[in-house]
Amino acid sequence: MTTDSDKILIDRARHNYMNVYTLQNVVLDRGEGVYLYGTDGKKYLDCAAGIAVLALGHGHRVFKHAVQTQMDKLAMCTGSFVTSEKVAVSDFLTQSAHMDRAFLCNSGAEAVEGALKTARLWAHHEKGAQCKEFITFKNAFHGRTYGAVSVTEKARTYPEFGPYIPGVHFAEYNNLDSVRPLLSDNVCAIIVETIQGEGGVLPGTPDFIVGLRQICDEHNICLIVDEIQTGIGRTGKMFCHQNYGIKPDIMTLAKGMGGGFPVGAFLAMEKFGKYIKPGTHGTTYGGNPLACAVTLAVSSEVAKPEFLAQVKETGACFMDGLKKLKSDTNSIEDIRGKGLMIGVDTVYDIKKLLPALLDTGLIATQAGDRSLRLTPPLIFTPDHVNEALDKIGHVIRKGDL
Ligand SMILES: Cc1ncc(COP(=O)(O)O)c(C=O)c1O
Repeated sequence: MTTDSDKILIDRARHNYMNVYTLQNVVLDRGEGVYLYGTDGKKYLDCAAGIAVLALGHGHRVFKHAVQTQMDKLAMCTGSFVTSEKVAVSDFLTQSAHMDRAFLCNSGAEAVEGALKTARLWAHHEKGAQCKEFITFKNAFHGRTYGAVSVTEKARTYPEFGPYIPGVHFAEYNNLDSVRPLLSDNVCAIIVETIQGEGGVLPGTPDFIVGLRQICDEHNICLIVDEIQTGIGRTGKMFCHQNYGIKPDIMTLAKGMGGGFPVGAFLAMEKFGKYIKPGTHGTTYGGNPLACAVTLAVSSEVAKPEFLAQVKETGACFMDGLKKLKSDTNSIEDIRGKGLMIGVDTVYDIKKLLPALLDTGLIATQAGDRSLRLTPPLIFTPDHVNEALDKIGHVIRKGDL
């Protein structure tokens, strides 16, 4: 129930905050584990997790311990100083991914910017000054800063913001034949999500992802894999590309790696990373000791084999339950995803489905034009899955949407 004081707050938010989101009619107050609580005391099962961010849920002891301990030690310093926290997290990420160098930043979009710049820098030195173009995919999402937006087809539909960076080609996702005609000596990198998240939770087919790797090898093109949504355990593997048996040249990360702390990173193989020199790139806050301590604590917890196995099992249990709901109700048209990154297409308008789910006490998000996206905290258990299925089942069985 929206209380009078909630209404006043929501109204103030409508006036004093940039109008970038359609606001919910709920004011959130606190979180605990996989649950969120509104200011009216109502409990919500969190199947959004800040859109695939809160790997360990809300207020996890590992997260809190890392923040509290590091706050008492050292929170921030200039990037040119070495700290044990930055060295440890860089070691952890590069070793987990079998890559050579890490750059730490504060968000996904920044990670994408760094990745695009690194690819162009490498190409300039090794392939010539003309080699600046990118191949990306329709329905991809890579962020909202200028480089990231330029490789995000949908975001480019605002002519007001143009000109975007030139030399960006859009191929069809899961269609290698649409990539080949775009290849030339001017293409420095292909950027791809292994599962298109914002685009509708659309997994890349093995032929497609492996085929892109082969194309990049054959044409000496840099393969940038954007794992900002899929990385850090989300699919039951530490990185989603491991499901395909390929390795990126550059990989972007954010979201889950800080478990709610604002962080991002890009990792690169030495062949590409070696051209970054002082002055070519940098960040004030990125890699600060506080962010590094939290990232190391959260990401190491997720990387434990038993943790990843649990994500895989719980994800499979969620999929099975949704498939059963599909056969029982005729209201579900398609279910896609891997691990705890699931997209569901229903016969209902997603704009009506999400508020109805919110009313029953479940928070989820939209992906693409019509998909329900379920990205709960990775600490979800089969009991939580059953609770989510009960709520989703209740709403779609009632059917008056
Ligand atoms: C695949 C992917 N890339 C990039 C981004 C941008 O990340 P951020 O919002 O942290 O800038 C997102 C965010 O949703 C994403 O899902």
